[in-house]
Amino acid sequence: MLIAGNWKMFKGPAAARAFFEGFEPPADVDVVFCPPFTSLEAALESGRTVYAQNVHWESQGPYTGEVSPEMLVELGVAGALVGHSERRQLFGETDEMVARRARTALDAGLGVIACVGETLEQRESGDTELVLKIQVEAIAFAAGDRENLVIAYEPVWAIGTGKTATPEQAEEAHAFIKGLLDRPVLYGGSVKPENAAELLSQPSIDGALVGGASLEPDSFAAICRAASTS
Ligand code: PGA
Repeated sequence: MLIAGNWKMFKGPAAARAFFEGFEPPADVDVVFCPPFTSLEAALESGRTVYAQNVHWESQGPYTGEVSPEMLVELGVAGALVGHSERRQLFGETDEMVARRARTALDAGLGVIACVGETLEQRESGDTELVLKIQVEAIAFAAGDRENLVIAYEPVWAIGTGKTATPEQAEEAHAFIKGLLDRPVLYGGSVKPENAAELLSQPSIDGALVGGASLEPDSFAAICRAASTS
């Protein structure tokens, strides 16, 4: 089981250090933290596995505001998220950009958690599988079934909304994704201590990508415990 905490644009270095003082997860769960770039170093001091929230596809160059895979490797960062729906929706990331980010990060030796998921409108118009197929195949075509690649299924309508996919909805999407690309699939979208065990007990759910509930040591540790027992 892999439980990843996506801190989004929360927690500077001092808040990151304070989090780790109070965080005690079970030993048998792989836990990954995705803090903002400026808190990567503070998070690394904890000795925990740290991923960036994004990564560029070139090693260096005139790409203002971007960070390269090699820079992350030099810092000791183990991987990166790519294609989070907030990147896709608010910053115009395309499937091609997500696929390039995934491929070059993997080439540089980083782990990658590549996010996919449909909007509410797409789900309601019956296009969930079509959208997932397009997003997953772009990643699969560029990055293949590489060992360090994990997919995160995050229905956009469930992110930060308090609405969680039912275990059945999540299981159905995960099984579909695994049929396209045989890699572990994390579920993300309003995962909380109260719903984690049921989601994580589904056969095709291999872990969770947690936003809001990863910001407090106690709630995030509770989710990790649910992963440990499911
Ligand atoms: P949430 O965010 O848990 O706050 O819904 C999940 C994510 O965006 O990764």
